[in-house]
Amino acid sequence: MRFEEKRVTLKDGRVLLIRPAMPCDAEELIRYLKQTAAETRFLLRYPDEWNLTAEKERELLQGYLDNPSAAMAVAIVMPGAGENGAEASRPDDGSSADSAAADAVSGGADGVPVLAGNSSIVPVGGARRVRHRCALAIALKKEFWGLGIGTALIRYQQELARRIGYERMELEYVEGNERGKALYEKCGFSETGRIRMANKYDDGSYSDDILMSVTL
Ligand SMILES: CC(C)(COP(=O)(O)OP(=O)(O)OC[C@H]1O[C@@H](n2cnc3c(N)ncnc32)[C@H](O)[C@@H]1OP(=O)(O)O)[C@@H](O)C(=O)NCCC(=O)NCCS
Repeated sequence: MRFEEKRVTLKDGRVLLIRPAMPCDAEELIRYLKQTAAETRFLLRYPDEWNLTAEKERELLQGYLDNPSAAMAVAIVMPGAGENGAEASRPDDGSSADSAAADAVSGGADGVPVLAGNSSIVPVGGARRVRHRCALAIALKKEFWGLGIGTALIRYQQELARRIGYERMELEYVEGNERGKALYEKCGFSETGRIRMANKYDDGSYSDDILMSVTL
């Protein structure tokens, strides 16, 4: 779905823009997906499992815009100094921004808005009996953790979900993700179950997934 953008002031004084992900974000989103996959073990995929072409990603993003039951939001940190003097755009992936598009985002270049993260809501299923439930997913680049972006994104997704007509929002997180757990509890989620040995890592170890949900 398309939805209106929203601006929120972050804990460090910088401004966060939340807006729908657009097909023009495809290349930057692919870089971001690979980066976040490398920064945490709490996401589903290893970096080498993100093999989407820009064209396929553009199609997926257009699909989100056209689907009245789903929403993909990007979190953009606007240029400017935070109250601790940090500059808004300090990339650590070595990428550069040269897009001429007015609303383009960058992996990092001083004075250019930076894609910090994204979040989506999708239907749990199409059958009438489950149409009141949606699933939430969220991730941020590590340099943007702890600024309140996760809270702002989830609260906005909950508002959009209510508007769509959903009554329950669900998610799962990997055991040990204490920052995620704290964020979800702050946004009203509570634990509803556990999938034992849900994830198997390349070193042969396993982790459980914890299921959470909230009534909207
Ligand atoms: C999980 C994630 C989305 C959280 O987003 P965030 O922007 O860092 O979260 P917020 O800054 O809004 O903080 C949420 C709360 O967690 C608390 N918190 C932060 N670090 C914490 C920690 N190590 N342990 C417990 N609580 C913690 C904060 O105090 C904050 O609450 P407060 O604002 O009331 O003080 C983000 O860290 C992330 O993308 N992690 C990697 C990917 C991931 O785990 N995705 C979720 C998969 S289910």
